Amino acid sequence: MLEKALWISPRGDAGDGAVCFRRRFQGTPGGKAALNITCLGVYDAYLNGRRVGDFILAPGCTEYEKRLQAQTYDISDMIQAENELIVTVGKGWHRSRMIAKREGLYHAPCALIAQLDMDGQMIVTDEAWEAGPSNVIFSDIWDGETCDATLPETVYGSVRTVDWPRDILIPQEGPFVKEQERLSPRSVFVTPRGETVIDFGQEITGYVEIMLSAKKGDRVVLSCGEMLDRDGNFYNENYRKALSRMTYVCRDGKQTWKPRFTFYGFRYIRVDEWPGEASPDCFQAVALYSDMERTGFLRTANEKLNRLIENTLWSQRGNFVDIPTDCPQRDERMGWTGDAQVFCKAACYHYNAKQFFEKWMGDLRADQRADGSIPDTVPNFWLIQRSSAAWGDVMTVLPWRVYLMYGDKKILEQNFEAMKGWVDYITGDTLEKNLWIGPDDSSIMWQKHYGDWLALDAAEGSYHGATPNDLIASAFYAHSANLLVKAGKALGRDMVEYEAMRNRIREAFLQRYPVTAMTTQTALVLALAFDLTNDKPGAAARLNRMIRENGNKLKTGFVGTPHLLYALSENGYADTAYELLLQEAYPSWLYEVNHGATTIWEHWDGMKEDGSFWSTDMNSFNHYAYGAVADWLYSAAGGIRPDEEAPGFARAVIAPIPSPRIQSLEAEYKSVHGTIRSKWTNTRDGVRYEIATPVPAEIIIDGKRHSVTPGSYIFYSEAAKG
Ligand code: BGC
Repeated sequence: MLEKALWISPRGDAGDGAVCFRRRFQGTPGGKAALNITCLGVYDAYLNGRRVGDFILAPGCTEYEKRLQAQTYDISDMIQAENELIVTVGKGWHRSRMIAKREGLYHAPCALIAQLDMDGQMIVTDEAWEAGPSNVIFSDIWDGETCDATLPETVYGSVRTVDWPRDILIPQEGPFVKEQERLSPRSVFVTPRGETVIDFGQEITGYVEIMLSAKKGDRVVLSCGEMLDRDGNFYNENYRKALSRMTYVCRDGKQTWKPRFTFYGFRYIRVDEWPGEASPDCFQAVALYSDMERTGFLRTANEKLNRLIENTLWSQRGNFVDIPTDCPQRDERMGWTGDAQVFCKAACYHYNAKQFFEKWMGDLRADQRADGSIPDTVPNFWLIQRSSAAWGDVMTVLPWRVYLMYGDKKILEQNFEAMKGWVDYITGDTLEKNLWIGPDDSSIMWQKHYGDWLALDAAEGSYHGATPNDLIASAFYAHSANLLVKAGKALGRDMVEYEAMRNRIREAFLQRYPVTAMTTQTALVLALAFDLTNDKPGAAARLNRMIRENGNKLKTGFVGTPHLLYALSENGYADTAYELLLQEAYPSWLYEVNHGATTIWEHWDGMKEDGSFWSTDMNSFNHYAYGAVADWLYSAAGGIRPDEEAPGFARAVIAPIPSPRIQSLEAEYKSVHGTIRSKWTNTRDGVRYEIATPVPAEIIIDGKRHSVTPGSYIFYSEAAKG
């Protein structure tokens, strides 16, 4: 790619600022023209004053050492006789503080490579280009952006060519990150501490656009926060070392400004400096996320539940800025593999995430080590050496999920060897055959595995839930081996060996971890979810009892929570599943809603009953992991599921689970074969179901199976119990 073009860089040190690259050229309007371009950092390009394309934060976030996406834009209708192309390059992920451990990338030059093709004429980046400083004097993914509009026009000087590999260039794979919703302030108010704060009413990821009249040199400084503290003051200590600030030095007159090379996670904005009075019409919050088609819709008669669903959606949007991140605000924003493993199913219902995940799987493969292990974050910006159970298992869980949802074998073909590599890695890593047993490291903080991260049965001061790491690791070993076998079979490969291995792992698990000895909710949940017990009724009864004895409350963390409601509803305890879903006391999903959540919290007790916060240490209010509950609403409550034998919803299974606690629930999923709808309503005479399917389906109502052809159907059953 871009074989003829050279990497170019300004002569001086670009520092933390963004650099403008310029090329003037003559053209012939009316012809065909395309711009092929990428950079070390993030860029925006303007041709004759018009923005080229609408990709924000191009070229996106990848494992830059091995994969750097280049974009191709059709600019045919932008070419004039005399042209000026200006490309401004900021630090982006590539050179921001978040990547400092990757010294080679962090200290990379601010560089651009581009090729413009116009009806036989080709212009490439070379020494004929010019470069100079922009008015963006600082940008950093964690820390924010500073623009000084008082600076004189860019003074251009010559460029130098730099030696940077070209074999890392790949065509754009993921969807573009684009500006999406725009939100006006819900209110602008003064806190008890005297701070002027804007409330956008919704936590988003993106930036604020400001519109104001000002004098040259007036300053605007805005800080980001997710929550107000219990006294109603602005709070952002949980951003830790991420400064997350927008700073703008005004020119004279009416003006509009927004950051260009970074993003922020926020609901509240503290106006630290502003010329005159900050009125609501001066601000708009702009949401940024990967452009995906919305495919899932859930509506229920319970407003709080609807808010929870909305929160799961917003957490997906806010954490799908080119890579699936843990959170969008603090000094992380990393592609934590475990979080994606947990949430990918919900993500694929809400949005068509196929292309998004296909691209990220490319980064996973690029980061997979020779021994098959997967770093805990991808791209591995922090050079993490470890590989945790339930985190690395994203390597098997995600391709299989994408295959089930979209029916395209490509994802299995591309990843089969990597899936195998992961399972083989576990096989070689254990201290005991057929299980995944590690050294006893329970006394140290950063153990080999994260375990049931943030579970409520953790010991005081620990993030690790009470479920033994070895049990979780062995359960995921079984799960990954099972998914590998399924993937191999779908690809028509001989899986006899791995099938035997999977059976051995299962047997070993049954021997080592009988459900009668399990003492945590998560252990039982995993045994049920991954078919690791021969006594499902016994395990489910035990789990149900545990929850009842705990006051109908969960104790699960990242590992147990996504499977918790299924473990109950699929084994005769749908009423308990609904009890947990609709629980409003702490800890629960609706507890967060009652405390004003507009996205999913990292901690069940991110904000405590008394309005105080969990420590500033790990307390994001936009962490999608527990938002995995949305997939239960689509696939269990609404009952819309892919049929494993005919993936991609070529055939569907529709098995709704009604509850008397909610008057009605409607799930809609726009599959690649058309839209499936499933609605149930509690009526005086029982439950009425309205189901529409564009594909042949197996509809299961009250345990009775109905094989149907495409069409719309009404069913009735007796009143739901529970
Ligand atoms: C992240 C998590 C992640 C975890 C690993 C945290 O700092 O925010 O979501 O999975 O580390 O334990």
